[in-house]
Amino acid sequence: MDRAARFLVPLPTLMGLLIFLCVRPGAEGGKVLVVPMDGSHWLSMKEAVQELHARGHQMVVVSPELNMHIKEDFFTLTTYASPYTQDEFNHLLLGQTYLIFERTHFLKMFLKAMESLKSAALVFQRSCEELLHNKELIRHLNASSFEVVLTDPVYPCGAVLAKYLSLPAVSFLSSIPCDLDVEGAQCPNPSSYIPRLFTMNSDHMTFLQRVKNMLYPLALKYICHISFTPYASLASELLQREVSMVDVFSFASVWLFRGDFVLDYPRPIMPNMVFSGGINCGHRKPLSQLNGQVSK
Ligand SMILES: *[C@@H]1O[C@H](CO)[C@@H](O)[C@H](O)[C@H]1NC(C)=O
Repeated sequence: MDRAARFLVPLPTLMGLLIFLCVRPGAEGGKVLVVPMDGSHWLSMKEAVQELHARGHQMVVVSPELNMHIKEDFFTLTTYASPYTQDEFNHLLLGQTYLIFERTHFLKMFLKAMESLKSAALVFQRSCEELLHNKELIRHLNASSFEVVLTDPVYPCGAVLAKYLSLPAVSFLSSIPCDLDVEGAQCPNPSSYIPRLFTMNSDHMTFLQRVKNMLYPLALKYICHISFTPYASLASELLQREVSMVDVFSFASVWLFRGDFVLDYPRPIMPNMVFSGGINCGHRKPLSQLNGQVSK
């Protein structure tokens, strides 16, 4: 007898099972805790949050009261006190944006960019501490019986919070530097054919391109050290055991990538990595009539 035939389920039974799964009480909306990254990242995530809301899930977004784009909307917004005044917040986070337009020496530019990265990283780190050390809010979130935490790993606070509350975390991202996502998911990551960030390499590399592919990630290590190490310390303190940066990223149960292999080069993935296509900042505007006429 054909081996596969033994596993075949009659079609009506399968349909019945599917319908049962769809209508049983467990299929009602869930309670989702959202820990977003502020700024443009939130604009992408908000699209996903909106869709989940439309499908009947209860979305609770937690954010510091001082923020850029996370405002009261269709979801429930839970805020907590910020350790900064509005002026400090604006200065630390946006004070250096003029740099983009400045024409100065590369090294000077680089040092200034590092400085502004450091101060921005500190703002987010402080804000995360404020959340995780807020006993009353943690007690409230813990008692709210959420089923899952949806979070952006660029701000690893959500993953730490999920672990602290013993909830599964879903990471929503396009990519993060230093391949911490890939390491966290224990995914194979061969340098021989996976082009690294900023190298402009393809998946077919010459020897020298492979050398470049090995060296570029080293330069990013420092940036990742500044922006992510504080969360490992924070997690170590809360969970009362030594936690590394990679451990923090391994807290995610599912990785939801805003990517697609039509655009991205092929690479190995793990079963908990899902590609959801390129939702980025949403709300594209249609081209104006004028553009249409010019191109004719
Ligand atoms: C959450 O509540 C459970 C059950 O009451 C408790 O065991 C656990 O320690 C709480 N977690 C936090 C982080 O407060």
